[in-house]
Amino acid sequence: MSAERWLITGALGCIGSWCCRQLVREGHAVAAFDLGEDRRRLELVMRAEELGAVEFLRGDITDLEAVERALSGHRITHVLHLAAMLLPLAAADPPRGALVNVVGTVNMFEAVKRRGLPGLAYASSVAVYDRADGLWMAENADGHPVSHYGVHKQANEGAARVYWLDDGLASTGLRPHIVYGPGRDHGMTAGPTLAMFAALRGERYEIPFGGRAQFQYAPDAAALFIDAARTPGPGAAVRNLGGPSEHVADVISAIERTLPEAAGTITFKDQPLPLPEDLEAVHAAATTPLAVGVRETIDLLRETVAA
Ligand SMILES: NC(=O)c1ccc[n+]([C@@H]2O[C@H](COP(=O)([O-])OP(=O)(O)OC[C@H]3O[C@@H](n4cnc5c(N)ncnc54)[C@H](O)[C@@H]3O)[C@@H](O)[C@H]2O)c1
Repeated sequence: MSAERWLITGALGCIGSWCCRQLVREGHAVAAFDLGEDRRRLELVMRAEELGAVEFLRGDITDLEAVERALSGHRITHVLHLAAMLLPLAAADPPRGALVNVVGTVNMFEAVKRRGLPGLAYASSVAVYDRADGLWMAENADGHPVSHYGVHKQANEGAARVYWLDDGLASTGLRPHIVYGPGRDHGMTAGPTLAMFAALRGERYEIPFGGRAQFQYAPDAAALFIDAARTPGPGAAVRNLGGPSEHVADVISAIERTLPEAAGTITFKDQPLPLPEDLEAVHAAATTPLAVGVRETIDLLRETVAA
């Protein structure tokens, strides 16, 4: 029996599902804490017997007592905090967005501190930066976000720093850029994955943005988050995930190489996102090339379409 006992918030989401898959395959105990009940992303990436190994805890990260109960009741040793309202959801309801994204994150830090654990990893975002901050950003650069969501994530990085200064609670925040892959089905930057799904179904699709970004394959992102939660810090570290900066047109080319019959059916709106194109990653690990990630995504989605 593994000594690692994980709590993953937002476990029913895209990155959370891939984290559950990796940890269950490694033989660790996983408690999946999420407000939602829809397990479709987990069912997409995990086999039924693997899903059976996950303990599902329905709860709201805005409820500190519920989070504390989850930590103590399941003798949690590792915490990965991914739950959030993504940019469009936070934009549609800024008060609730701030409650979930900011207070919910402070609750996670507070609960981990009270439980006496050494630290945690959490998801920040490229959205802590605006495009006007620069097309390439050094890892320690200050940002001037232009969305509530980006401001929430920036506040979280600040709270992490204060928990380190006041309480010695170590953390690592990771800032994904654009995560793609099975399970990525909503949010401002889901377009590349939705395009893969559309191409498989033989439908036309326009990715609603253009320009360059680091396209990060969801299983790679999950592995980096798991590594970060195993050894949080030093201090209140904040890191970028890395990977080459590629154009949305490169994503479309990769789709067309995998599905030649989709040639010409996937287009993009030639308007960049309000984000930098490239983030420095001082500790970047090797990542799955875009062409491979796109092919694997389409292969896995093909099974769903067939089903
Ligand atoms: N996907 C990306 O490209 C990307 C980019 C930058 C940052 N991030 C960050 O990574 C994390 C995971 O992203 P994702 O794409 O998997 O998101 P997702 O939307 O797929 O998953 C988020 C999960 O959080 C849950 N959740 C929302 N509010 C909750 C609450 N109050 N209590 C408990 N659970 C709640 C949702 O039900 C959902 O299952 C998020 O923090 C996100 O901000 C993602």
